[in-house]
Amino acid sequence: WVSDALVFFGATGDLAYKQIFPALYGLVRDEGLSTPIIGVAKQGWGLDQLKQRAADSVKAHGGDITSEAFNKLLSQLRYVDGDYADPNVFTELRKQMGDAQRPLHYLAIPPVLFSEVASQLAKSGCSKNARLVVEKPFGRDRASAEALSRILDEYFSEDDIFRIDHYLGKEPVQNILYTRFANSTFEPIWNRNFVRSIQITMAENFGVQDRGAFYDEAGAIRDVLQNHMLQILASLTMDPPTGQEHEAIRDSKASLLKSVRALDAGHVVRGQYIGYESVPGVRPGSTVETFAAARLAIDSWRWEGVPIFIRTGKVMPVSIAEAVVQFKKPPRETFGEIDSLGCGHMRFRIQPDVTIALGTRVKIPGDRMIGDDVELILTRQPGADRPPYQRLLGDAMHGISDLFTREDIVDAEWRIVNDVLGDVTPVYRYEPGTWGPDEALQLVGGDGPWLNPKPA
Ligand code: BG6
Repeated sequence: WVSDALVFFGATGDLAYKQIFPALYGLVRDEGLSTPIIGVAKQGWGLDQLKQRAADSVKAHGGDITSEAFNKLLSQLRYVDGDYADPNVFTELRKQMGDAQRPLHYLAIPPVLFSEVASQLAKSGCSKNARLVVEKPFGRDRASAEALSRILDEYFSEDDIFRIDHYLGKEPVQNILYTRFANSTFEPIWNRNFVRSIQITMAENFGVQDRGAFYDEAGAIRDVLQNHMLQILASLTMDPPTGQEHEAIRDSKASLLKSVRALDAGHVVRGQYIGYESVPGVRPGSTVETFAAARLAIDSWRWEGVPIFIRTGKVMPVSIAEAVVQFKKPPRETFGEIDSLGCGHMRFRIQPDVTIALGTRVKIPGDRMIGDDVELILTRQPGADRPPYQRLLGDAMHGISDLFTREDIVDAEWRIVNDVLGDVTPVYRYEPGTWGPDEALQLVGGDGPWLNPKPA
């Protein structure tokens, strides 16, 4: 069944501006979303101000605010203002929901407010037959994530909770899984016998900018490594889903994440870019990391002994997210060039230029048996990406949960990083525009070098 109202808390906030309004506009335009859309916030605003905000947001994200679709969106928009602790706010919300009996509530608010909002939704009758969408961060560590889950479980069943990790809404992330399991070619070599190492890089060439206060509470490990990067890793390394159950994919992913060895201090390097401390909202002397690199291991027959390197950072030389599976060199020297041989590889560029490519060695024409490393581009999909939030919100309205993360998956992700959160490891400074501190080189050692993604 389809939800018959969409309520979003945090309507005047940053996430609403950057993601939710453009997604709602897309849903009305492309998918005929026609339910009431009710924004809730504590900002002292009225409906007109919210409409103005919607217009600013949609325009800034390339939408056409003179279009029929945008006007339709405005006509569906309602607004409720007030404190989330005030029961009147929820009485008003129930009123604004009109005849809706199966609403979807989207909590685009800090997790400290979840408990209050969830209980008020329940008391006011707004949570009956409702779905709940929540945003990361799901807690600050394993224990607080568990506590948060208990709170949500009090009012909503797991089937009705949709946890957003927007990387799952990205086409190229779905394509990793699709390409692996829609072909029989890759599975036989996707293991320790053929794979030398795996590297995943998520680099951004900009800093923390206007998010200092938020970021200084999080850092790169909590912000992206624990979630987006581990989801990419799981898609790359999970076993083929078995059976026909609709949970098969998430079951397989959960099982993989549970077999990733928990990180310890010796396998993580944290960095902070020079200049981070002067970002408004950042505490003086902050040791929060804006770069993190980790060496992971998966305790399974398939991946035993295969090193997995993941790294993410702000103010890197480029903005690129990419995963590379490197294959082993041939076991014997046949053409006398084993030292110069590259490893074959498979490369998944997630953004900006969506690409899947296969690296291999071919002979250069001529008398001698000498070759070259070439890359076969299997696909390039520029601009094929529907905005992830549009996809995800649409799915949640229809109760389709495949692209959302599950409670046990979130727990497994926290388990992996839990022991290296905070100041367990030193934070090394690095120059903006570099690939992070030199200490990260030691992590890869002889299994390296790091493969720095190059712009197309
Ligand atoms: C968010 C993080 O979850 O993901 C940000 O909070 C990060 O710090 C962003 O920049 C990256 O998402 P995308 O889709 O721009 O790669």
